[in-house]
Amino acid sequence: MTKETVHVDLGERSYDIHIGPDLLPNAGAYIKPHLQRNHVAIITDETVAGLHLATLETGLAAEGITSVALKLLPGEATKSWENLQKTVEWLLSEKIERDDIVIAFGGGVIGDLAGFSAAILRRGVRFAQIPTSLLAQVDSSVGGKTGINSPHGKNLVGAFYQPQLVLADVAVLGTLQPRDFLAGYGEVAKYGMLGDIAFFEWLEDNGPAMAAGDMDKRIQAVKRSCQMKADIVARDEKEHGDRALLNLGHTFCHALEAATGYSDRLLHGEGVAIGCALAFETSMRLGLCSQEAPSRVRAHLRAMGMKVDLSDIVGDLPDADGLLALMAQDKKVQNGTLAFIMARSIGDSFVTRDVDLDVVKSVLEDALSAR
Ligand code: GLY
Repeated sequence: MTKETVHVDLGERSYDIHIGPDLLPNAGAYIKPHLQRNHVAIITDETVAGLHLATLETGLAAEGITSVALKLLPGEATKSWENLQKTVEWLLSEKIERDDIVIAFGGGVIGDLAGFSAAILRRGVRFAQIPTSLLAQVDSSVGGKTGINSPHGKNLVGAFYQPQLVLADVAVLGTLQPRDFLAGYGEVAKYGMLGDIAFFEWLEDNGPAMAAGDMDKRIQAVKRSCQMKADIVARDEKEHGDRALLNLGHTFCHALEAATGYSDRLLHGEGVAIGCALAFETSMRLGLCSQEAPSRVRAHLRAMGMKVDLSDIVGDLPDADGLLALMAQDKKVQNGTLAFIMARSIGDSFVTRDVDLDVVKSVLEDALSAR
């Protein structure tokens, strides 16, 4: 089975994303060239530690690398000020130095928290991402967004801070719950929808086999997703322009996540899938894309067994005005206007602040009335 490498070209902050099976048992060989001394600190959560920490530690020890590990509670609530302090103080107590490597070993929560801890510890300690969820492998471990949540909202405190390398071991995805895998798939499909119709067609043909466990298809899907993200991040690292394309479906998603209390009623990737369907519906009603585009998006997500409609979310939701009010809290609001990612077709999206909110409201009203 081929191992793949995607390069993120950011000048002196460039790095490689290695993708393949069996990277954990060989982690020492990948990480050793980045070390000044044979010692690392691992930040992980209890679930990932129970499943995979021994494999990582053995892979490091095979190259003579010793390690210490901090195991945090799994879940979004871990991305807090309290855990940031706990992590940074632990790294200091372990005498982790500037030239050491901190390993973020887990899903998006651990990657964001550990990356931000590394960014502020001693004004910046180097770090590596070893993402263990599909969502983290294709999105959150790549591109240097790190941070925590504030009582004011998600990801409101953080820094752009790039890792030294990313190891995406797709064999690890085999231990994910099907729901978590599919949530990550929402971000994979997003790449096809936002910028690559050929990839979307490939996913229509190969997505089900990939979800069923085909390792080669998983490698290809993670590689193409990372390539697309790497290209966009290389053009616009700090999200002044094109990087916002990665937020296709996210304005709707963030409102739905807030409405469901960031609970397991709606996982982030599920919200992205529903948000993409709503973004295509809005684009169609604005006359930007054909009627066929939203139907095709929905048909693929449905074929994958994903949440597609607001009726797939259990429990109450606010009305359309309530959801619009939650959308207005989005980080991307500037001078009171919301940024939307709209589509001319599948694979051709663009950023605009010129969207008639009455059309968005009618899309939401219709989606709510179908519940
Ligand atoms: N997840 C969107 C980004 O990294 O910009």
